Amino acid sequence: MLAAEAREVRNFDNDWLFILADSAQMRETGYNDSHWRALNLPHDWAIEGDFLASNPSGAGGGALPGGIGWYRKHFQVDGATLGKNLTIIEFDGVYMNSTVYVNGQAAGSRPYGYSSFQYDITPYLVAGENVIAVKVDNSDQPNSRWYSGCGIYRHVRLTTVHPTHVAQWGTYVVATPSANGRKATFTVNVELENATKSTRVRNILLDASGRQLATSYSSTLQLSNPRLWTLESPYLYTIRTEVYNGKQLVDTYETKTGVRTFRFDPEKGFSLNGKSMKINGVCEHHDLGCLGAAFYDDAMRRKLVKLKAMGVNAIRCSHNPPAPQLLEMCDTMGLLVMDEAFDMWRRKKTQNDYARFFDQWHEKDLTDLVRRDRNHPSIIMWSIGNEVLEQWSSAEADTLTLEQANLILNAGHDASTLAKEGELSVNSLLTRHLAELAKKFDNTRPVTAGCNEPNPANHLFKSGAIDVIGFNYHHQWVKDVPKNFPGKPFLFSESVSALQTRGFYMMPSDSVYVAPKEWWLPYTDPTYMCSAYDNMHASWSSTHEETWDVVKHNPFVAGQFIWTGFDYIGEPTPYSFPARSSYFGIIDLAGFPKDSYYMYQSEWTPDPVLHLFPHWNWLPGQTIDMWCYYNNADEVELFINGRSQGIRKKTPHQYHVSWRVVFEPGEVKAVARRNGQTVGEQVIATAGAPSRIRLTTDYSGKDLTFIAVEITDDEGRLCPLAENQVFFTSPELQIVGVDNGCQTSMERFKDNKRKAFFGKCLVVVKGKGTLTARAVGLQQAAINVE
Ligand code: GAL
Repeated sequence: MLAAEAREVRNFDNDWLFILADSAQMRETGYNDSHWRALNLPHDWAIEGDFLASNPSGAGGGALPGGIGWYRKHFQVDGATLGKNLTIIEFDGVYMNSTVYVNGQAAGSRPYGYSSFQYDITPYLVAGENVIAVKVDNSDQPNSRWYSGCGIYRHVRLTTVHPTHVAQWGTYVVATPSANGRKATFTVNVELENATKSTRVRNILLDASGRQLATSYSSTLQLSNPRLWTLESPYLYTIRTEVYNGKQLVDTYETKTGVRTFRFDPEKGFSLNGKSMKINGVCEHHDLGCLGAAFYDDAMRRKLVKLKAMGVNAIRCSHNPPAPQLLEMCDTMGLLVMDEAFDMWRRKKTQNDYARFFDQWHEKDLTDLVRRDRNHPSIIMWSIGNEVLEQWSSAEADTLTLEQANLILNAGHDASTLAKEGELSVNSLLTRHLAELAKKFDNTRPVTAGCNEPNPANHLFKSGAIDVIGFNYHHQWVKDVPKNFPGKPFLFSESVSALQTRGFYMMPSDSVYVAPKEWWLPYTDPTYMCSAYDNMHASWSSTHEETWDVVKHNPFVAGQFIWTGFDYIGEPTPYSFPARSSYFGIIDLAGFPKDSYYMYQSEWTPDPVLHLFPHWNWLPGQTIDMWCYYNNADEVELFINGRSQGIRKKTPHQYHVSWRVVFEPGEVKAVARRNGQTVGEQVIATAGAPSRIRLTTDYSGKDLTFIAVEITDDEGRLCPLAENQVFFTSPELQIVGVDNGCQTSMERFKDNKRKAFFGKCLVVVKGKGTLTARAVGLQQAAINVE
C-alpha cells in the first residue's frame, strides 16, 4: 500500500514481533516467527527484567539484563509502486549494534545506539509480503556508565519518495533577524538526491498557522516584522521545500525554524535576543524511569513540564544524541538545548563502550547528529564530548572498572599529563577535527565540551577549538576562569551532583555529608539513602546552594547544567548494588520533586514559593531541623502548635532559612510576610496511622496518564513514612509502569503492584477507564481516567 507519488511518511511503530534470543536464521523471510511476542514500538526489553547483581551491566548500568534480541515485521508492498518510488526505513535509535535485514538481505548496521539512521530498502522489496528483521546486540557489557536500555527504543518510520528528493536531513535553514528586529532573512540550503537538469527547488515560508508569507526559487526569503523565538513565546515558522522535475512536483519537505539570536559573552554571560539571562539548565539521561529507555512522547513531555515549572530553561542531552522528538518539544516549549555527541572518544570508560567503534564511526555519528539537529532553534551549542579521557595525555582508561571510570574522572590528574607549552598534541588535533566537523555542517553555534580538567593545558582547551569553555564541577576554580581563559565565555557544562533520597533527612542538617569522601574510598550506610536536606554530595561536587551562589553572583558565568534534573536508572553513587538508580536528581525517578526543587523554583521563577520541610512525624522530644525555601517575602515565622519559634530572613547569599526545634505531635506552620502582610502559609500536621489511599492525576498525556498514589491517615494527611504495598487493577486500562522513586527497590517496573516509599508511589496507565488501588488494611480507592 505504498503510495506511488510524492513523499509519504508512515509511522512504522506498530505490529512488530519480538524474541529475546538469537539465531542466524531469524533474518530469513520464511523463518517461523508465529510464536514470537507481538508488540508495538518503541520497546525496551531490559526494563521488563529483574534487577540482579549478576547482570553484566552492573549497578552502574541499572543491574538490568542485556543480551541479543530480534524484531520482525511483516508488511505488504503494492507491486504497482515497485520500481517507481524509493522506500526508506528510518530509525530514531536502536540500542545497540543493530543490523537490519529486508527479506533476508542485510540493509545496514549501526553500532552507536543513540544515532538516528535510515536505509534505502528499495532494492530488497518484492510485491506482496515482505519481512524486515532487526537484530539488536547489547550483549557486550558493560558498555555504558548509566542504564542504556535494549532494543528498538525510539520511533520508526517508513517513507516513500520519488527518486528525486530532498536528501536525508538535507535542508539547512538559518533564520536571522536584522539588527533592529524589523526584518528577518531565511537562508535555505537544500541538498537533493538524484537531481536532473530540469530539477528546481521552491521554498515557501509559512507562519505557525500555515499561512504563506513568502515564496522563492532562490535560497533566500525575506520577512518583515518577524516574530522572535523566545523562551516565553517560542514562535516557529515552517519552510516548505518543493522539488520539481520540470513542471511535476516530486517532493515536498517541511523544516521548522525559529528567528532568534544568542550570544555567549566572556564578561556578561549568555543572552537570547539581546536579553541577558542565566542558562538555568539540567543534564538529563534518556531513560523515562519505569518506562525505561522506550521513548514515550507523553513521558518526555511530563519531564519537561515539571522541569519548566521549576524554572529550568535549558536541557543538556547528556551524553549522547537525544530522540528527535525531545528537540521538537524544546522548540515548542521554549527550552534551550546543549546537544552532545559522545561520552568517550578513543579511550574507553567501560570495557565494551563506544570507544571500540570511535575510529571507524565518529565522523558519521557526529555528522549525522549535526545534520539531523541543526534546524532546531532550541539548540544553542554542540558538545563534542563529556569528560573524555583525551583531556590528558595518558589515562588508565584501558584498565578501569565501571565504578573507577566514573570516579577517577573527577579525581584530577597530575600536571605531567597535560599539554606542554607550544605543543599541539594528537588529542588537541582530534579536538580540532571534531569541532571542525561540527562547524562544517553548522557554523552558527559554538562548540563546547564537558571537561573536568579546568586547566588551560587540558588538551581539549589547548586545541583552541572549544568556543565556550565548559567544565564540570570545580566551582572553586571559577574565579580563575577570566585569568586562565582570557576572552573566552564560560559555563558549567555540568555542576552540583548533590545526593538525595526523596523523604529522607540526615541531621544535624548544617553538617555536610560527603559521600564518598574521596573517590577511591567506598561509602556505606545501611539505609542506602542520601539526605534530602541540601547537605550531601560527592567529593567532586557541591550542594545545590553552593554552586548556584557562584553562578548567580558571577556575571561572566553563562549558567550551569545541573547533574541532574530527574533521577535516572544506573550510576547509584555513592552506593552499589542493591542500589540501582541515581541519587543525583532534583526530581526522583517516579517524577516526585525532592525538596531542592523548590529552592530553584524560588530563585528561578516569579511564582510564589513557600516550601517547609521535612514532615512532622517524629518521636516526641526529638530535635528536628525545619527548613524553608521561599521568595516574594521578607521573612518567615515558624509556629509549633501556635507557639512562635522565631522569625528568619534570608541574606543575599542564603537560599533557605531554618529552625532547630523540638518535636511534639500537632502542627508546624510557616507564615511568610511581605511588608508586614501575610503572603503565604503552610501547615504540616502530624499524620495518624495509614488508613486510605489517595489517587490523583499527576500528568495526563495523549496516551498515558501518570497517577500519583499517596497513603494518608483518615483525615487525608500524607503518611510520610508509609510503605504499604498497593495493588492496581483495571478492566480497561493497561498498566505500563510502576515506581516509587526508591533507589534500592528490587520490585519490577512492569507490574501491577508497588510499595509506597515515604508515603508515595506512581502508576502509569494507558487508555481510558477506572483504576482501583487496594492495600491490606487500607480503604480502597478508585480514579477515573478520561
Ligand atoms: C560526571 C559525569 C556524569 C556523572 C556525574 C556523577 O563526572 O559527567 O556522567 O557520572 O559525574 O557525579
